[in-house]
Amino acid sequence: MIRKAQFVVSNTDPTKCPKPDRAEIAFIGRSNVGKSSLINMLTGVKELAKTSQKPGKTQLVNHFMIDDRWYLVDLPGYGFAKVSKDRKEKWEQMISEYLTSRENLCGVFVLIDSRLEPQTIDLEFLNWCGEEDVPFVVAFTKADKQSKSQTDKNVRAFLNKLEDIFGDIPDYFVTSAEKHAGKDQVLSFISELVSE
Ligand code: GTP
Ligand code: MG
Repeated sequence: MIRKAQFVVSNTDPTKCPKPDRAEIAFIGRSNVGKSSLINMLTGVKELAKTSQKPGKTQLVNHFMIDDRWYLVDLPGYGFAKVSKDRKEKWEQMISEYLTSRENLCGVFVLIDSRLEPQTIDLEFLNWCGEEDVPFVVAFTKADKQSKSQTDKNVRAFLNKLEDIFGDIPDYFVTSAEKHAGKDQVLSFISELVSE
């Protein structure tokens, strides 16, 4: 369980992130996939990370301090169709710089919408993470939005694609911010990562 969660700072420039003196866990995924909602669910603070029905709400690298012990980072989403080419390139530059140079980063949760069939943009992003040695795991979101069998089907299809790419299946979690599903599993995984 998380006892204390505090907002620290928002940045567009990854070099201005807080001093890397603690373990750090980041959350990323397609715009509107439910990153901020999952963060609020995990921390138990309803409006810690701003959520929105409109994609593209989170536009900065947002650091939160958890239990005075580790940093949690909410990142802006990728794949939002309505952004300009210029903004998209800026996003790619900021995120790739952050993910490849942040020395205290020990885990990145890549969020995947459990309602959808495998999306090329997610697979491409995960492929890039693999190439760059970004330490990622997968969290499927919004599992409450459809039947369990439909969720299982979409999750399985996605995992099959990952197996094709990587030769094995990475760690993954099935979550619902609405129903608090997957909370204990994700938190105990994080707790192990940050105490290594
Ligand atoms: P950006 O910051 O815009 O990239 O979006 P985000 O990935 O942070 O998504 P956000 O948490 O803002 O959620 C987007 C929408 O999905 C909101 O309307 C949420 O209420 C809804 N949502 C997120 N998670 C869940 C979930 O587990 N179940 C249900 N039913 N809705 C969810
Ligand atoms: Mg967000």
